[in-house]
Amino acid sequence: MKLAVVGGGSTYTPELIDGIAGRRTTLDVDEIVLIDPDTYRVDIVGEFGQRLLDHAGHPARIRTTNNLEEGVDGASAVLIQLRVGGQKARRSDETFPHACGCVGQETTGAGGLAKALRTVPVVLDIAERVRKVAGDDTWIVNFTNPVGIVTRALLREGHRAVGLCNVAIHLQRTFAQLLGVGANDVRLEHTGLNHLSWERGVYVDGVDRLPELLGQHGEYIAEHVSVPLGWMRRMNVVPSYYLKYFYSHDKIVEQQRTERPRADVVSDVEEELLKVYADPEVVTKPEALEKRGGAYYSEAAVQLVHALTGGGPAEEHVVNVANNGILPFLPDDAVIEALSSVDGTGAKPLAARPVEPLFAGLISHVTAYENLALEAALKGGRDRVADALLAHPLVGQYDYADQLADSLVKENQHLLPWA
Ligand code: G6P
Ligand code: MN
Repeated sequence: MKLAVVGGGSTYTPELIDGIAGRRTTLDVDEIVLIDPDTYRVDIVGEFGQRLLDHAGHPARIRTTNNLEEGVDGASAVLIQLRVGGQKARRSDETFPHACGCVGQETTGAGGLAKALRTVPVVLDIAERVRKVAGDDTWIVNFTNPVGIVTRALLREGHRAVGLCNVAIHLQRTFAQLLGVGANDVRLEHTGLNHLSWERGVYVDGVDRLPELLGQHGEYIAEHVSVPLGWMRRMNVVPSYYLKYFYSHDKIVEQQRTERPRADVVSDVEEELLKVYADPEVVTKPEALEKRGGAYYSEAAVQLVHALTGGGPAEEHVVNVANNGILPFLPDDAVIEALSSVDGTGAKPLAARPVEPLFAGLISHVTAYENLALEAALKGGRDRVADALLAHPLVGQYDYADQLADSLVKENQHLLPWA
């Protein structure tokens, strides 16, 4: 099988290749094409990826190209993992909202909107070209943030796409280790949206072990997700660490005002990683890769591509899919992140218990924002940007929405097709 990776020059790519190398029996890949406009970077990453495969005794060949059409031709699955504007644009997302006392984050709040506006048109263009060349049967696995909005855009245009994030698999792996059970024996009751999710149950053999996890390993989990332990115990829930941007908003903004932006930290890590990747002596995944946030990214991707293309029975994975009535308080075409049944026909979210008002309220609120964000990304216009910001629970005031809309457009002018 052939796999294509758009944004293949990412420093994350060796994580993915390493996952493929270690799971030869799960995923039968013989060709991987890394597609990236940055030839210098993709060549370094491609050669290193090949050494990883060779070292593991995996027969697959890696090819690199900056030509999308040529790269995706004949691929069974296309992974999209790009970042429009690079770390420079991310730095802007992480800082411009501070002027209004709002959180600066690349997927949440005003920064997340800026990223959506830059990204949706680019990903839709790529998906359309993939459809023309590779045909209707090719799966698009979308890792590109903000995953919820980008996946909603892809599904709305009728693409065969599934959105993926590593938050759920990271928690699944963490809980499995704490409980001393196999990773795939842990079934998460995962509810919400991408980067706005709660684990409401952690099932092993049909028994909810979440109370035990919070009882015995509560401090460790609280530290991981930055949420007060007493609250998690009272609610019997573990929110994703992205919820700290909501539940501890002002505290985080205070920290951010003095901290280095994550974009700058990541730029340094990337420089370090590329140096290591370029060393022909290095044939295994470097430890420095753990400084990036993508833990278990490769496992999530390998498992999902296997479920979509392997022709086997349905498997359960947490993915980003159309709601279709699973959360009755959301429109059908909203994209939710949920435990889903995945096979060659796609991903279908599994039934969910009624959602507690505390979570349902925020999910609804952010879904409404995502809807307006997508409108703004597709149609453009400064006022649509302001409307989406007014709808966001972390902005929500006229003055802030207006000021942030103006600075968002100014900061991203060269990357917005309509500005
Ligand atoms: C997690 C999130 C991703 C995000 C990444 C950022 O993995 O699920 O959506 O892109 O963190 O990691 P970074 O190393 O770029 O800060
Ligand atoms: Mn994510």
